[in-house]
Amino acid sequence: MSREFHTVRGYQMLNAEQKLLTSSMEDYLEMICRLCEEGGYARINQLADKLHVKPSSATKVVQRLALYGMIDYQRYGIIRLTDKGEKAGAFLLRRHGAVEEFLWNLGIQDTLLQDTEMIEHDISPHALQGIEKLNLFFSQNPDVLCRFQDFLKEP
Ligand code: FE2
Repeated sequence: MSREFHTVRGYQMLNAEQKLLTSSMEDYLEMICRLCEEGGYARINQLADKLHVKPSSATKVVQRLALYGMIDYQRYGIIRLTDKGEKAGAFLLRRHGAVEEFLWNLGIQDTLLQDTEMIEHDISPHALQGIEKLNLFFSQNPDVLCRFQDFLKEP
């Protein structure tokens, strides 16, 4: 699965796709990608479990994702990603990871997942690029990150 979307255009194209998806559909697609990374496919029951919803609710969203051409879902509760779904999903995972790393660097720990989930769905491609740049800068300059994190501890 390709996770490399380095260009602004790549982001914009994928973002245009994302506009079709609601936040909830994004959450589902993200989780489907995580599950598919392990075994190549995801199951409705497994997906419902991970998202803490009923299998009947999961089925409804999964059917909508299938209509959008993001996944193949036919029978036996097995879900597979299409190429389009793989690309969009890779973008969602990457976006989640970037926001999470950014917040982690800011010293957010206890509410890390919750805060990431709140920000990721509405962030613009432009702001995301800025965040990725900052993440990259910190990873290339760990001494600066250390100084910043010491600064955070000051009263
Ligand atoms: Fe997420």
